[in-house]
Amino acid sequence: MREIDAALARLAAGEPVAFPTETVYGLGARLDSERGIARVYELKARPRSHPLIAHLGAARELADYTREAPPLAWLLAERYWPGPLTLILRRSARVPDSVTGGQDTVGVRVPAHPLALELIARAGVPLAAPSANRFQQLSPTRAEHVRAAFGDEVCVLDGGASSGGIESTILDLSGAAPRLLRPGLVTREELELVCGPLASADASAPRASGSHPLHYAPRARVELVDASAWRHALEASRERAAALVPHELAAEVPAALASSVTVLPADLAAAARALYAALHELDARGYARIFVVLPPERALGAAIADRLRRAAGRGDAV
Ligand code: TXA
Ligand code: MG
Repeated sequence: MREIDAALARLAAGEPVAFPTETVYGLGARLDSERGIARVYELKARPRSHPLIAHLGAARELADYTREAPPLAWLLAERYWPGPLTLILRRSARVPDSVTGGQDTVGVRVPAHPLALELIARAGVPLAAPSANRFQQLSPTRAEHVRAAFGDEVCVLDGGASSGGIESTILDLSGAAPRLLRPGLVTREELELVCGPLASADASAPRASGSHPLHYAPRARVELVDASAWRHALEASRERAAALVPHELAAEVPAALASSVTVLPADLAAAARALYAALHELDARGYARIFVVLPPERALGAAIADRLRRAAGRGDAV
């Protein structure tokens, strides 16, 4: 039996399955399976009030799972799906309370990974899925990250390393004006060309657990430091420490420190792809602290800095 047939059998039996997407791995249940959805929350130890994203098979399903989707939603869906953009829209009656935390809105996207699309198409129903990590832990970008978090409890469809590496951009189109709730692989600059200036999340925004300050945290304590201070912080640390720095600082890494310093690639897409794997790796190597210098916050640099800030427990609502 192919892995995907086994995964479909699990889904049909009301069991969640971890599947690859282009952003991070998801832990999915059939949208019509209350049991499966309850298991997702249980496995993740995630509060029931934090809504899940509905992963659709195609953009036309917007008509089935949302209502009053504005023309802008269709335009963005057409342009970016399959891809790393989640739209928050009013939900249709087909979306259960258990997926939305009782809110009247639902997050939807079509993932750009052939295995995810095959799984959804053959399930015949969208998959409700958060990232396949335990609540407030690092997101997985490889099957082995999921296995390390859940062991034998979860069946993992292995689709290789995620090509994007950080979670989707979340754009709220359910209110009077579009709002960026989470920066991601589709950048603010790109979206503003289509949508005009975007408001950011505020206290009245729908709940996004990604805005929780301690989201995306590795086990090691992450501390943000200035570009001028990382070296001293590393050398002076009493605990076993590593550093993660942007490419701009590559020339400042002395050979003696090279083994404990991770330099992100110059290309920001490559840096996003490498980010969680690098943090997982530093955790696996048993560092107690990670000193982080944020990259310049332009384009994809904004999403990378957002995730690093959250890893340090300093995430603002975005
Ligand atoms: O790239 C991604 O988005 C990945 C892959 C698996 O698709 N998924 C992901 O899911 O990151 P999760 O649950 O870790 O983050 C989804 C975010 C959460 O912060 C959740 O609160 C927010 O989306 N969200 C979902 N539905 C929402 C809604 N109706 N209103 C506001 N935020 C919502
Ligand atoms: Mg998550």
